[in-house]
Amino acid sequence: MDIRFAEFSLPQSGAVVVGVWEDRALTGPARRLDEATQGAVARAVAAAPRFHGKKNELVPVIGPPGLPVSRIVLAGLGKPKAIDARLLEDLGGTLAAHLNSAGESEATFAVDLGDGAPVKPAEAAARLAYGAALRSYRFDKYRTKQKPEQKPSLSSITVSAASPGEAKQAYQALGAAAEAVAFTRDLVSEPANELYPESMAERAAALAGPDLPGLTVEVLDENRLSELGMGALLGVAQGSVRPPRVVVMQYRGVAADVAPLAFIGKGVTFDTGGISIKPAGGMWDMKWDMAGAGVVIGLMRLLAARRARVNAVGLVGLVENMPSGAAQRPGDIVRSMSGQTIEVLNTDAEGRLVLADVLWYCQDRFKPKAMIDLATLTGAVIVALGHENAGLFANNDELAERLVAAGKAVGEPVWRLPLAESYDRAIDSDAADVKNIAGDRAAGSIIGAQFVQRFVNNVPWAHLDIAGVAWSKKDAPTVPKGATAFGVRLLDRFVADYYESD
Ligand code: BES
Ligand code: MN
Ligand code: ZN
Repeated sequence: MDIRFAEFSLPQSGAVVVGVWEDRALTGPARRLDEATQGAVARAVAAAPRFHGKKNELVPVIGPPGLPVSRIVLAGLGKPKAIDARLLEDLGGTLAAHLNSAGESEATFAVDLGDGAPVKPAEAAARLAYGAALRSYRFDKYRTKQKPEQKPSLSSITVSAASPGEAKQAYQALGAAAEAVAFTRDLVSEPANELYPESMAERAAALAGPDLPGLTVEVLDENRLSELGMGALLGVAQGSVRPPRVVVMQYRGVAADVAPLAFIGKGVTFDTGGISIKPAGGMWDMKWDMAGAGVVIGLMRLLAARRARVNAVGLVGLVENMPSGAAQRPGDIVRSMSGQTIEVLNTDAEGRLVLADVLWYCQDRFKPKAMIDLATLTGAVIVALGHENAGLFANNDELAERLVAAGKAVGEPVWRLPLAESYDRAIDSDAADVKNIAGDRAAGSIIGAQFVQRFVNNVPWAHLDIAGVAWSKKDAPTVPKGATAFGVRLLDRFVADYYESD
């Protein structure tokens, strides 16, 4: 979709969106259109019994008189004081969905907030465009028989702004974010026959190049992983014909001696459960068990694209968890890179085994300022928090507070759950140093986090259990149903707000 910024002039084709404040007060462009259409705008506002100009209210005026546009969409804005960046993103997204389902191909957004609103005009225009771009994502590369009316129709949006140059400038980083989110959504949406450890590593490796200066990508193969002693990760991978990979992405945005932030992703390209096999119903969802890794790769792309003033490393552990004659058995004991031995009582608790080795390797090699892992780790986090919040665990309060604040700011909320010694007792093993499940269903997400914490030394660390938020079954204003890329915007904001100021 083509996005442009231009000064407002009366459109002569396509759809045009204008804002209406709460209590039905017309904005400047709405009045201009009203004059050009012999009062059609004011008449529509008066005639729509449930339109008050509150946020999320839309009224289309199709084929208005006096102006050759296809429709005018009246968009409720609510109260000027309540306008913020998130509201505008949601409006942009809702408008894109409306126009796409209406079959419109070009649109002008003339949502002039004036000077009274808390968001500056250029920023407001950029946020509207960002929301529209986020919502317009589709994964349709495997759909060969779509009828024209099933395809998105909207091909260009012109957003009105008094200073188009400034709006375009404000959109630079946001446009890069929308692209990174789409990149992650593509990875997460791919089926497991197309996206497996090697092919996913190739997609990450392809990011390194002149377009993203400062970004380097290394791919560690199976031999290297065994040399490093990653017995926990290799144990998960051994049942599959697809060899595992660990991808190490480094982005340098400041002096080389500044310790990096580290992001680690679970990348199980398909999780059958292994010998502790999952039931058939719904197993297809496990193609997105690599969402944590997809988010880390998209985030690294974004930090590089917007030239973030930070050093960051992104590591992803890529494996396929399959049952086979070569698969690991319940009761097997593996030796992790840390030296700790792990009794694998359930081969379906595999994500934590992958994270164990990748986290250990990460802190060993990079001595990061902080480590944040993302993983579709437990079904239990869905029982606890549903699809609204990701589960957050941390060994450091400041880090946890920063993640909560960043999540709130971008609309990707996270809710902190506890860690404690008393939970940790549940994973002591009789046969090895630790076992990978507790043996009952109590506090499943906390148990998973406790296991992961056994592989973290004295470094500030946080774990995001994204099993409930990585995929959505319903449309939201800026997130069409499907892969959400939850975490890309959150962590980008986290970096921007707390690690780039100096
Ligand atoms: N990938 C799953 C968790 C999951 C479940 C993600 C539903 C997304 C949606 C994970 O590997 C898993 O199987 N976890 C087990 C852990 C259990 C065996 C302790 C679970 O949640 O049942
Ligand atoms: Mn599993
Ligand atoms: Zn899994």
